[in-house]
Amino acid sequence: MIRKKRILTGDRPTSRLHIGHYAGSLENRVKLQDEYEQFVIIADVQALTTHFEHPEILKQNVYDLCIDYLSVGIDPGKSHIFIQSMVPQIAELTVFYSMFVMVNALKHNPTIKTEAAQYGFRDLSYGFLGYPVSQAADITFCNADLVPVGEDQLPVVEVTRKIVRRFNSLYKPVLKEPDTLLGSCPRLVGLDGNAKMSKSIGNAIFLSDDEETVRSKVKAAVTDPARITLKDKGSPEICVLSEYYKVFNQEEYGNICSMCRNTAIGCTSCKKMLSEVLNTFLFPIREKRKFLEEKPEYIRDILQSGSGKARTEGAETLEQVREAMRINYI
Ligand code: TRP
Repeated sequence: MIRKKRILTGDRPTSRLHIGHYAGSLENRVKLQDEYEQFVIIADVQALTTHFEHPEILKQNVYDLCIDYLSVGIDPGKSHIFIQSMVPQIAELTVFYSMFVMVNALKHNPTIKTEAAQYGFRDLSYGFLGYPVSQAADITFCNADLVPVGEDQLPVVEVTRKIVRRFNSLYKPVLKEPDTLLGSCPRLVGLDGNAKMSKSIGNAIFLSDDEETVRSKVKAAVTDPARITLKDKGSPEICVLSEYYKVFNQEEYGNICSMCRNTAIGCTSCKKMLSEVLNTFLFPIREKRKFLEEKPEYIRDILQSGSGKARTEGAETLEQVREAMRINYI
């Protein structure tokens, strides 16, 4: 039997997921799990690179993240959802890789630089600076063929590819160099019209938001500032509402844009309609979440079995890695 190609993807358990995550990655994961064997990492150790003062928040976040995954349709029968800290082989690989990764390369990594600036770090912790190395371990412990990521993570996955090539040439070619896959909508714009949707900016619609919350958030969304009265012609290309229609109601997108341009629809009714579109999209996700929130033992079993599967894969890789490095003594 030929084995299915593997995907490794995942998130830090630092916040609930929003519709930007859905458009940028979750939708893709739901599709890809049929064709690939998918490993989904809940990167709790990586979350500690910024949240080390509050490890106690992780437990709830890990469960919430798993519920977000299941409620959008990631199927534990097809995808292995696992917790990073429950796979010790990831930590072991990180140590081995860290011997031949240069500190300067990490310091100049564009993602590290951008994120360090965002967090306002003056100095970097060893763990934060080294998270691309630990992420290389996340990706290679199961020999993933493909890593779907957002644009901002591309330089981090490039570190993985370099590590694999270096390891294979230093010791023995046992690691797989993964390809990256960009999502169809790498960045969904935020409700404020700025940059991308993000919890920390406060411009997000969460998958767990209730109907009323969605309505009031959409009501406050920034639209074309030049459109003051209903008679002003709108420019949908600079309006966030149109971005959301494009992703969540593609069939009506063209129609709505022309109605906006020729003043057949105003922002208030456009917003009302969009709220309904989003609430219709979120309805089945909310229903599934309600069901899953009552079943913590079921979530625990999924995490337990996904992590068990990941450990089995990790043990196999570690055996090959030790053999390649000739540090299998006994
Ligand atoms: N760095 C990713 C993020 O911040 C999360 C992550 C951890 C990840 N390990 C990974 C993503 C491995 C892809 C592959 O969202």
